[in-house]
Amino acid sequence: MEHILDLIGDYVGEAFETAGFDRKLGKVTVSSRPDLCEYQCNGAMAGAKLYHRPPIQIAEAVVDVLSGMDAFSKAEAVKPGFINLNVSPEFLCGYIKDMSEDASFGVMKTDKPKKVIIDYGGANVAKPLHVGHLRSAVIGESIKRILRYLGADVLGDVHLGDWGLQMGLIITEVKHRHPELPYFDENFTGEYPEDAPFTISELEEIYPTATKKSKEDEGYKAEALDATYRLQHKQRGYYALWKHILAVSIKDLKRNYDSLNVTFDLWKKESDAQPYIPDMVSYLKDNGYAHIDQGALVVDVAEEGDTKKIPPCMILKSDGASLYNTTDLATLVMRRENWDPDQVIYVVDKRQELYFTQVFRCARKTGIVKDGTDLRFLGFGTMNGKDGKPFKTRQGGVMRLELLIRDINEEMYRKIMENHEADPEEARKTAQIIALSAIKYGDLSNQASKDYIFDVDKFTSFEGNTGPYLLYTIVRIKSILRKYLSETGRTEEDIRGLKILPPQGDAEKALLLSLTGFAPAVEAAGEELAPHRICGFLYQLSNEFNHFYHETKILAEEKEAQRESYIAELELTREVLEQGIDLLGFSAPEKM
Ligand code: ARG
Repeated sequence: MEHILDLIGDYVGEAFETAGFDRKLGKVTVSSRPDLCEYQCNGAMAGAKLYHRPPIQIAEAVVDVLSGMDAFSKAEAVKPGFINLNVSPEFLCGYIKDMSEDASFGVMKTDKPKKVIIDYGGANVAKPLHVGHLRSAVIGESIKRILRYLGADVLGDVHLGDWGLQMGLIITEVKHRHPELPYFDENFTGEYPEDAPFTISELEEIYPTATKKSKEDEGYKAEALDATYRLQHKQRGYYALWKHILAVSIKDLKRNYDSLNVTFDLWKKESDAQPYIPDMVSYLKDNGYAHIDQGALVVDVAEEGDTKKIPPCMILKSDGASLYNTTDLATLVMRRENWDPDQVIYVVDKRQELYFTQVFRCARKTGIVKDGTDLRFLGFGTMNGKDGKPFKTRQGGVMRLELLIRDINEEMYRKIMENHEADPEEARKTAQIIALSAIKYGDLSNQASKDYIFDVDKFTSFEGNTGPYLLYTIVRIKSILRKYLSETGRTEEDIRGLKILPPQGDAEKALLLSLTGFAPAVEAAGEELAPHRICGFLYQLSNEFNHFYHETKILAEEKEAQRESYIAELELTREVLEQGIDLLGFSAPEKM
């Protein structure tokens, strides 16, 4: 479906042509002065140079034609040569009708779906999720939903960190505590126990304990390095223990991501890329891409015109060990062999930007990715506390995601119970739904690359530019619709059949105009990988709806056809708002 701006532009272009000018001058934008008009065209200004005539003359000639068109209720030439436009209620009504009948409300889907892998989440096995992982999960989930809605073929990959010293540290600590376990007996040939020798809470305590010990004790650190080496060379017992660590940890991670309404199609891990490393290294060597520099194997990635120094991409350390780089490059090999993506998007802390520049350059230069593969780094800023410093617990420690969510749930529950009497169990469920909107919208409404302040009071407020405000608006609409159904005995299906009439008042027209912004907002969000575009749209739509609601007697409207039209407009507004928040990764309750 054509966007309303393009449709209006077609009419204005036609008017330019009829008046004897180039139709390309008829480009239209949403008015920058909504107090004066709804849309504007500045084509007469550009035309002045082309036709050597004063712009106002051109504008007046075009307006003459526009005034005869049904699509406009106002067309005005304003000095020095602007064309100010209002669309007619009938035209707007026709557009809204088409939009309401379109399965994706006018969004243009790609006809050639590209294959996209989104790398987000990035949790580390055996370490609790912290707020840094929140942003990756929340933004990545939304980008995935937006691109899918636009028709792309998208896979989300959690890309778990499960390789490296952290594993050796845990194994070492378990060995110190339970040396008698069969995993540490090199002569053991039997079956290892099915159950893990630790719970998730033990695991989460083991890791920091081991890290601390390794910092204080050289011998302990050497043991951990040795354990890492043995694990990476698949020593039987260590490998079996590592499997336990993975299973226990992944189960817990899934529970956490579930509570955030975040899902992944692929649960690939850094370890899954390791088998691809040896061939990749030979390939880089044999083709002369990699060379030895101070013992290490590196690929130069500096390019002419770099304004700052981009260091070489290190493939193997001088002791032959692989690095974070190596894993990311091998992961690209794995992704190409298994899924052959056209685009890979990394939703990672922006402090890793230089690192990804190196990896991307190396992958392109060496042909690890095929020509034309679009590698994109979507770096996000830090989530800060009200003091402007990285978000911490009250005690100043690293904030665990689980605790943060629990706090916001509590706060939401308190607010609900304070506002009105509610069944505690019901209120708990509703609180969870609203809390998630507070957390996600608080994050997504900011441009991803910016740092933002996690302000609990602001984010959980039912007023202002917040998730709960959007949900409140949706719930308000749902309650009117429910009332309408019970008063008239009609069904939801009947509502879908109701006819929208041309808008009567300003508030109603503003609501319909706002609705037409859905497709452009979603398409822009997809193109720019920017969920905040959708947030901006939803907030404006909610404001227009609430304004309309306060201005209009909806259920008390006496003329049957008019009341039905209002109900149809409410239904469309609800559908668009609910589709919008679904693209952001949250949903609305029935009541609140
Ligand atoms: N596990 C990493 C971390 O916690 C993030 C992984 C990001 N993704 C990637 N492909 N390197 O910092």
